[in-house]
Parts: sequence; structure tokens; C-alpha cells
Amino acid sequence: MPSLRIRLFQKADFVFADSLRALAGWNQTPDDWLRFLNHQPDGCFIAEWDGQPVGTATTTIYEDKVAWIGMVLVHPNAQRRGIGRALLEHCIAFLKPRVGCIKLDATPLGKTLYATLGFKDEWTLRRWESSYVELPTNPMSFCVRPWRDADVEAMRVLDAEAFGVARWSMVDRLTRQRSRWHVHETVKKRVVSFGVMRKGARAHYLGPVVANSIAAAGPLIKTLVLALPNEPIFWDIPDANTGAVELAQRLGFQPQRPLIRMFLGENKWPGDPQKIFALAGPEIG
Ligand SMILES: CC(C)(COP(=O)(O)OP(=O)(O)OC[C@H]1O[C@@H](n2cnc3c(N)ncnc32)[C@H](O)[C@@H]1OP(=O)(O)O)[C@@H](O)C(=O)NCCC(=O)NCCS
Repeated sequence: MPSLRIRLFQKADFVFADSLRALAGWNQTPDDWLRFLNHQPDGCFIAEWDGQPVGTATTTIYEDKVAWIGMVLVHPNAQRRGIGRALLEHCIAFLKPRVGCIKLDATPLGKTLYATLGFKDEWTLRRWESSYVELPTNPMSFCVRPWRDADVEAMRVLDAEAFGVARWSMVDRLTRQRSRWHVHETVKKRVVSFGVMRKGARAHYLGPVVANSIAAAGPLIKTLVLALPNEPIFWDIPDANTGAVELAQRLGFQPQRPLIRMFLGENKWPGDPQKIFALAGPEIG
């Protein structure tokens, strides 16, 4: 009888995990795997089939309230044997005593599996992609600048309002990867949005971008995007955030694929998709 075992992800698993990620055509980098492991060393898992690694899953806990499941990948030669389901059940068993709500952003294929485990739909989103950027007709805002330590408190507050729970330690880790990060401040020197652009395996990744309005987010997004003309960029946008969707279209982005945010448990900290102008990533929220 073949045996299935779920065990903790070790540093030695990076090569296998990243090869699986590449096979699926996903955009994460070795820096992302390292960040998962640093953030939640007790919550990243490998599935083994007959002693060989065949699958991955990561969890990221925010404030002991909400957790994200991400990087659910099973090698194509090992699919449809119950390994994806076993990985999910392992993550859920790990998270249930620790948080009130478990979330994930599902691909259409993943959604079939998650729905059978009790996950419910929250809202839809879409990946947008651009390989070129049109120059904007209006001049760039001079109030967009790299963020400084003194901005962090304002950004923490903005981010927790938009995301629903505090996740600053994760955002902070993102900025230590190969990334650019900016804030938009008004003439009264108030920080009204912040955003990150980081390097991915296939394209740059725009996000998170958080703001109270498109007026606040627009100049910041244009600054980050226009710094990379003719380079591929991925940008995940909640469908409900029509201001962000319209801006993506104006900048020449095309819709690439739909995703759906799902939750298990009580959705007590929903956040506000109108304030999320770019996800931090489907694997982390
Ligand atoms: C999605 C994925 C993780 C499923 O892994 P898996 O080990 O094949 O899944 P399981 O064998 O445990 O199947 C569990 C259920 O998922 C659904 N499912 C899995 N593969 C499916 C497929 N190709 N078509 C339709 N349903 C599918 C079925 O409901 C299945 O139950 P069943 O076998 O009783 O019908 C795997 O296909 C994969 O790695 N895909 C590429 C990456 C991806 O999309 N990951 C999900 C990110 S949200």
C-alpha cells in the first residue's frame, strides 16, 4: 500500500517546493518561500508519497484571529490521489485551535476542493497583467515618495482597516525582499496610501496597495507601475474595487484569470475590499 505522510516544511525542501511552483507557472520566488517559513515555521507543510515529496501548503497567522492558507500545490504526476485534500485537512487541523477564521484565495481548480471542506465564497477578484504601460495624461503627483520609519504607524492603521486584522510584520517582511515601496502624502503631510512592488519569478508583483480612495491610491500606483515600463507586472484586484479596475484598464492591464476569496469559520474580521487596491498576494491575502 502506498503511504501518504504530511510533515513540516524544512529549509532542505526549498528546491523541491520551488520546482513545484515553477511547474504550476506561479510567480513566487525563493524569497517568498523563506518568508513563509520565517513567519510560520510550525505551519508550513510537505506531503510525501512513498517517502518522496509531492505537495506543499503554507499557513500565515495574523493576530491569532485570521489565517491564510497558500501555496497548495500537488505534483501533476501525483494529483487525484487525495493529497491536496490531506494537505488542506492538515492545515485546517493546525489552524482551528489558533484562529477564528481561515481564509484563502482560490483558483477555480482549488475552489472545487475547498468547497467540499466547508469553505464559503466571500468575494471575487481577478489577476491583471501588463507587459507595457501607457503614459498617463495627467502629471505624476509629487507627493509620492519612498516611505520612512516615521510613516509606519499611519500605514499600520490604514492597513488594519482595509485588511480586517493587523498584518504589519508580514508587510514589513515583504519590503525586505527585492521591492520598491512608497507612500502618498497630502499637502498636509498626512499619509493616505501605501504600496509595494516586488520582484516575482515571472513578473513584478504590485501589492499590497491600501488607501481610502482611488484619489489617494491612483498617484501611488502610477508611480510604482511607471517605474517599470515594458516589464511584465501582475496586479490582483478585488472586483468590487471598481476604481482600481478602471485604473488598471487605463494603464493597459488585461484580465488574466479569476480567483475567489473563501473563508471557513466565522468571518468576524472581513476587512474592506474598497480599500484594497492590490492584494499582498493570493497566498497571503
Ligand atoms: C488543486 C490541487 C492542489 C488538487 O490536488 P489533488 O491532490 O489532485 O486533489 P485531491 O486528489 O485531494 O482531490 C480533492 C478534490 O479536489 C477536486 N479536484 C481535484 N482535481 C480536480 C480536477 N482536475 N478537476 C476537478 N476537480 C478536481 C475534486 O473535488 C477532488 O475530489 P475527488 O477526487 O473526490 O473528486 C492540484 O490540482 C494542483 O496542485 N493544482 C495546481 C495548483 C492549484 O491550482 N492549486 C490550488 C490553489 S488555490
